[in-house]
Amino acid sequence: MSINNKERRNEKDIILKIRGLTIEFRVTRGILRAVDNVDLDVYKGEILGLAGESGCGKSVLAHAILNLVDPNGYIKSGQILFKQNDEYIDILSLSNEELRKFRWDKISIVFQGAMSSFNPVIKIKDHFIDTVKDHESNKNEEEIVKIAKKLLKDFRLDEQVINLYPHEMSGGMRQRALASLSFILNPEFIILDEPTTALDVLTQKFIIKLLREIHEKTGLTMLFITHDLATLAEITDRMAIMYLGNIVEIGTVRQIFYDPKHPYTKALLQAIPSITKPLEDLNPLPGPVPDPLNPPSGCKFHPRCPLRFKACSESRPKLIDLGDGHLVACHLYKRN
Ligand SMILES: Nc1ncnc2c1ncn2[C@@H]1O[C@H](COP(=O)(O)OP(=O)(O)OP(=O)(O)O)[C@@H](O)[C@H]1O
Ligand SMILES: [Mg+2]
Repeated sequence: MSINNKERRNEKDIILKIRGLTIEFRVTRGILRAVDNVDLDVYKGEILGLAGESGCGKSVLAHAILNLVDPNGYIKSGQILFKQNDEYIDILSLSNEELRKFRWDKISIVFQGAMSSFNPVIKIKDHFIDTVKDHESNKNEEEIVKIAKKLLKDFRLDEQVINLYPHEMSGGMRQRALASLSFILNPEFIILDEPTTALDVLTQKFIIKLLREIHEKTGLTMLFITHDLATLAEITDRMAIMYLGNIVEIGTVRQIFYDPKHPYTKALLQAIPSITKPLEDLNPLPGPVPDPLNPPSGCKFHPRCPLRFKACSESRPKLIDLGDGHLVACHLYKRN
């Protein structure tokens, strides 16, 4: 069940606390900081959206929640605290064995581009069986298959899909099979990274509705990632906006859509196409996305910001609470 705004802001309802998270990659030209000193709270039972232009660090941040970073990268600093039995454990300090148990069971993730998440030589059915048996070794295979078929059907796939190999399915089918798989162990928290991007618009709407229903029924906490703000408005309770590795604004859907504060959020909203508006009314974001290997000083958005002033190039604005749970990192605003 969805929790209301007042309850949501209660400290004790925070299920995931990310603090000072910085993630870097070694690349030929130097060091690329993909996630830069991120603080983020996720409240139990909410659907939090994460949005921002391609390359802003959404997937890198999401993977880090399960301590997954590509081999050429590393978590430079930070904590990822997950609440269990009234205590926070730091996911980054779990051993591999502890992490293996934790994944799927507590937190599961639907990766962007589902192909790489499946083993190409294993049928869909065995992905379900192996995942469950890895956590509950004596579970009956027939029972697992029965639940798997039901989940596949929920995600609008024919139950025969269970006998296919990943390469025998379309991208959209794989994405939905992966989403089904991520629900098999009834996790407390699910991360969905662009789960509807490869889908046609009708299936997309259907999946959004289904996720919303699952959420209403189970109170499952979700982190929903997409660059598509319109989709986020349909499914999420709150949204966080990212720009070049920083979170620049967090608010309820209403706050973000009707009262955006950060000039970047405003620009993103103005760039959303609408069938009722003429194309000329669309305002694409000004200027190119800066080189992530050599980001601008101060506020990283300042070279593209129409409202910039001196301080913007000099110091990085901190994320401040405007007093109503609406957070913004911009020198135009002062803490209430
Ligand atoms: N393994 C890697 N090695 C080097 N750079 C990487 C690696 N993985 C990600 N990056 C870089 O980190 C930054 C953030 O990437 P990320 O995949 O998180 O973006 P994103 O916001 O998910 O984008 P999209 O909307 O396209 O999925 C990008 O500049 C990307 O090039
Ligand atoms: Mg991504």
